[in-house]
Amino acid sequence: MNSDFSFVVSRRRFLYVAGAAAAVAMQPSSLRAAAVEDRRIAVAPGQALLTSSGQQTAVWAYDGTVPGPTLRLRQHEPVRITVENGLDEDTTVHWHGIRLPNTMDGVPGLTQPPIRPGENFVYEFTPPDAGTFWYHPHADSLVQLGRGLAGALIVEEREPVAVDRELLWLLQDWRLTKDGQIAPGLGNMMDAAMSGRVGNVVTINGGPPADLTVKAGERVRLRLANASLARMMALRFDGHRPVIVAIDGQPCDPHEPEGGRLVLAPAMRIDVVLDMQGDRGKRYAVTDEFYDGLAYTLTGLAYDTAAPLREHPLDAPIHLPSNPLPSPDLAIAERQEIILQGGMMGGGKLAGVGGMMGMGMPGMNGGAAWAINGMSMTGDGHSGMAPQFTLKRGTTCHLTMRNETAWWHPMHVHGFSLSVLSRNGVPVPHRQWQDTVLMAPKDTIECAFVADNPGDWMLHCHVTDHQMAGLMTVFRVT
Ligand code: C2O
Ligand code: CU
Ligand code: CU
Repeated sequence: MNSDFSFVVSRRRFLYVAGAAAAVAMQPSSLRAAAVEDRRIAVAPGQALLTSSGQQTAVWAYDGTVPGPTLRLRQHEPVRITVENGLDEDTTVHWHGIRLPNTMDGVPGLTQPPIRPGENFVYEFTPPDAGTFWYHPHADSLVQLGRGLAGALIVEEREPVAVDRELLWLLQDWRLTKDGQIAPGLGNMMDAAMSGRVGNVVTINGGPPADLTVKAGERVRLRLANASLARMMALRFDGHRPVIVAIDGQPCDPHEPEGGRLVLAPAMRIDVVLDMQGDRGKRYAVTDEFYDGLAYTLTGLAYDTAAPLREHPLDAPIHLPSNPLPSPDLAIAERQEIILQGGMMGGGKLAGVGGMMGMGMPGMNGGAAWAINGMSMTGDGHSGMAPQFTLKRGTTCHLTMRNETAWWHPMHVHGFSLSVLSRNGVPVPHRQWQDTVLMAPKDTIECAFVADNPGDWMLHCHVTDHQMAGLMTVFRVT
């Protein structure tokens, strides 16, 4: 279990998560500006204890652990991360959700040359937004993410929200064989053209989900990140009322989730504030109810028997400070539309794509099972593909995404955060900014962003099988 709890007692009545950052905060800002944080991450095969069976699973790991080390950065402070490739294939690292220079975005062939075996690449950026992000490869994505390459990236607020504890659950889904190894068949046609590779083992922070011991009356900030290839999740906290304070790293109006379920599709992050209002000595289940008829207990909140930390929940505000996102100007926005097509319909037929692309076995051996506006960009993308659309720098883009398929798709855009305007014509409340927007079958989403960052940027489904099989495109900002 690779957890990430480090606490420092503040002089106020709260505990803040601070770790090493506390020391940094004491320095005058002139000193701080000069210092670039230097980190190294080694990518290599390794072993992990994913289940309670005691059996080791052969994985690929960042710094030898699954998930990789949690990177804690400071907002507006530069970092330099040297990635050493110890695999015997090319890799890259993509800093999912971070608004950074295009050359640091980690897409091989599009934004950088791939990192060859035995070679390094130095990523340098200054995170503009505080929040919960993550990192993963963008080369041979299905295999590399499927073998465990993923880690959390936390950018700390200058003034953290007042809580007693901060926790992180990085969720991963694995399809393991009976002897605890990663099952073969990554990229098979059924997964590619249907729901993607949903597995049979879910881990929290790389291990079997153990109960979380909590104290009555405490307030916890829980950062949730779904780093699965394909598994969607809808988490319910029995007897508790989590309040969403950020989505995909971006603060929103604090609100309780619709129907009490936190819906987390692959690549999505949600930060919640949880007041532990349960009874001492009791256990409350945390269940995942996304798939009809397949609900399971993920883990539990186990109250210790100590006296409550406080009688009433804190009344301290749980609003997070907002990030410096440029505001879209809808009055002068340029409209673009993305239509998602393809996938298996029933009767074993692919909708549209197969015939359109003139292929014998769609979805097979890296073929296309999906398309965006009639075009299928497969694999990890490449530099040769013409952008779907081009935006002049500074333009507000009003983007409509229509899902014409019978499947769910978490649509992810690199380099930007999208202001989500409406879903199926109904305005979206709570001022949500997202880099990954989950679309139900036949959904239409309208969103907007300011194209303030030049470069070629990916837009793709984060069900990794779908991405590899054509549900991916590129747009350009000049
Ligand atoms: Cu998590 Cu192309 O991204
Ligand atoms: Cu991304
Ligand atoms: Cu998809």
